[in-house]
Amino acid sequence: MHFMNSDMLPAIKDVVKVGGMDFVPYIRREQIMARVKELASQITDEYRDRCPLVLCVLNGAFAFASDLFRAIDTDAEISFLRLKSYEGTGSTGTVKQMLPLSENIEGRDVIVVEDIVDTGRTIHKLVEDLKTKNPSSVRIATLLYKPEALICDVCPDYVGFEIPKKFIIGYGLDLDGLARNLPDIYVLASETC
Ligand code: IMP
Ligand code: MG
Repeated sequence: MHFMNSDMLPAIKDVVKVGGMDFVPYIRREQIMARVKELASQITDEYRDRCPLVLCVLNGAFAFASDLFRAIDTDAEISFLRLKSYEGTGSTGTVKQMLPLSENIEGRDVIVVEDIVDTGRTIHKLVEDLKTKNPSSVRIATLLYKPEALICDVCPDYVGFEIPKKFIIGYGLDLDGLARNLPDIYVLASETC
């Protein structure tokens, strides 16, 4: 039986080229894992005996949700839905639902897991939709949060890292579908200062 460990992952690179642009290291896998562990332990304490439904927003949140979910040390369930709002390095302004939620969430404690809250449009629309289905509670866990970019009334409950308004890739985050498999997070080199 083989388990994933850090020896199996590609080494961090000084520069990564995606879509003709250069990206440089920003948040390393060790920092990500340490923070994921802290968030999971907070969730474990706050949701003991409530069997929360962790709702992973595909595609970007798959890596974070997978690590977070496996670090939660109490009963919990996971489900998935897919939304899309970004093209290239910018928000399109509309949120498209590509794969709807199949679960009944009435009376459930839901934790929505996002990769990043940028303008907040995606999460705001999703939370409003979920609330019409009568869950017991809805909280938001996001790995990354860009408060400067926020234009909607959203306040994430669990935040991995607050970051400035810069474009990043890796650990699930993409540039037009690429770079999601990078184990570390990288920032657009032209936005480093
Ligand atoms: P929002 O609706 O503007 O908050 O955008 C949320 C979605 O846009 C996220 O779930 C990501 O998929 C995508 N996104 C926002 N900022 C970035 C970024 O810096 N890199 C890659 N994707 C991003
Ligand atoms: Mg996303």
